[in-house]
Amino acid sequence: MKITIIGTGYVGLVTGACLAELGNDVFCLDVDPRKIDILNNGGIPIHEPGLEEIVARNRAAGRIQFSTDIEASVRHGDVQFIAVGTPPDEDGSADLQYVLAAAKNIGKYMAGFKVVVDKSTVPVGTADRVSAAISAELANRAATLEFSVVSNPEFLKEGAAVEDFMRPDRIVIGCDQTPQGEKARSQMKKLYAPFNRNHERTFWMDVRSAEFTKYAANAMLATRISFMNELANLADHVGADIEAVRHGIGSDPRIGHSFLYAGCGYGGSCFPKDVQALERTAQDYGLNLLILQAVEAVNARQKQVLGNKIQQRFGENLSGRHFAIWGLAFKPNTDDMRAASSRVLLGELLRAGASVAVYDPVSMQEAKRVLELDFYDAPELLASIRYAANPMDALVDADALAIVTEWKAFRSPDFDEVKARLKQPVIFDGRNLFEPTVMTELGIEYHGIGRSVLTRADK
Ligand code: NAD
Ligand code: UDX
Repeated sequence: MKITIIGTGYVGLVTGACLAELGNDVFCLDVDPRKIDILNNGGIPIHEPGLEEIVARNRAAGRIQFSTDIEASVRHGDVQFIAVGTPPDEDGSADLQYVLAAAKNIGKYMAGFKVVVDKSTVPVGTADRVSAAISAELANRAATLEFSVVSNPEFLKEGAAVEDFMRPDRIVIGCDQTPQGEKARSQMKKLYAPFNRNHERTFWMDVRSAEFTKYAANAMLATRISFMNELANLADHVGADIEAVRHGIGSDPRIGHSFLYAGCGYGGSCFPKDVQALERTAQDYGLNLLILQAVEAVNARQKQVLGNKIQQRFGENLSGRHFAIWGLAFKPNTDDMRAASSRVLLGELLRAGASVAVYDPVSMQEAKRVLELDFYDAPELLASIRYAANPMDALVDADALAIVTEWKAFRSPDFDEVKARLKQPVIFDGRNLFEPTVMTELGIEYHGIGRSVLTRADK
């Protein structure tokens, strides 16, 4: 099938590459010429395991092309995926300007029937606005062409995006019940047929329910994390181990094991903005989603938990103190720094007078870019950040190590070397990578999240 992907970011590039891998003829559009140049020169603009190989293979086979040519992109695809960003507006609602700009372009250049797929995460009712934007452009040029807007939200996780796309738990597609909607449905069915070969994974529903499903999924996952973080903070006070509790409750199939890891807060491009956007949608209807307000507030506080623990240990004024930080990306296997907890920790430590040495296996470049923006008004703080060459280099002369991202490379370090390099053997572990009893045996002062029962023995 002939497919156009509008927006070649995380979701667009993964969608385009995976659909090309399945034999489709894919045209990826982006308005950012830098991204398109990188792709046309054989690179990829993001770090995502497995993606580079798929892009290279399909480019060589002539199944995927990258361009900034809007008109050509609209003419190419019978199915037009809109996969542009939907960042939060100042009031927390999803900013739909990029989605609506893409819709307008479709209306401006389309010459025959198009299936327009909202792949971006968009608030309930957006498909109607996309339809209206296309219709307005068609009316401008007095064209009477048919199209149908479909909602097909994406559930991939960064760092496992290719795997998630190729082996989805479910495919959610919302179509309307008009003749055009039926036509769109049959094209979407054909496109996704390879994913449904062994068993049917597609959930067909109305457009609004599909749009809602995406927010419901992310809000539920964020809720589980904030719930566990809240309990972890209590566990620290009452002397219980949140990891034991996690096993204890996760073994109940009604609860399940996933997304119960306490830590230094959730980040990324989705949970924070999607929780906020769902709250905003509710407010538009005069409702307050109290649970989600709490989820957000707990997460904001949780991002400060490592900094607070460090200040409790070393005092509020950290002048003259130096800390090592392992992990900058919001999660492992990505270079994405959007809403990363590391940014909050860095702000706290630097503003309290400390200096830091940071290390991340892949996001060092991205971190430099993002931190320059975070501290653009405080160059003296920026100067207190040293970008280390490797994890051990970061530890030199540090008063303590703080771990923010659970990269595999941090899971079994040479603890003798860690101790030798740190000024004193103190670890603040924001992702509960290590066993507190083992740390005590190694003579390391260990501060996990919600694991005080075991560290108490050390006191
Ligand atoms: P991104 O910022 O990585 O990519 C968006 C791309 O769209 C950018 O390259 C931008 O230049 C381009 N763009 C903007 N306007 C355009 C236009 N008019 N025409 C062509 N290109 C245009 O964003 P992302 O992380 O891929 O997210 C895209 C959407 O998918 C968002 O709604 C997001 O919430 C959702 N989503 C993201 C993830 C994720 O893990 N990143 C997962 C599921 C859903
Ligand atoms: C999320 C959803 O999982 C995915 O389905 C959706 O399409 C996009 O948003 P992503 O943001 O890539 O994916 O990462 P995810 O693995 O969900 O992690 C998000 C954040 O939650 C990370 O900061 C992670 O460290 C944190 N997290 C995750 C926890 O703190 N505890 C957990 O148990 C799981």
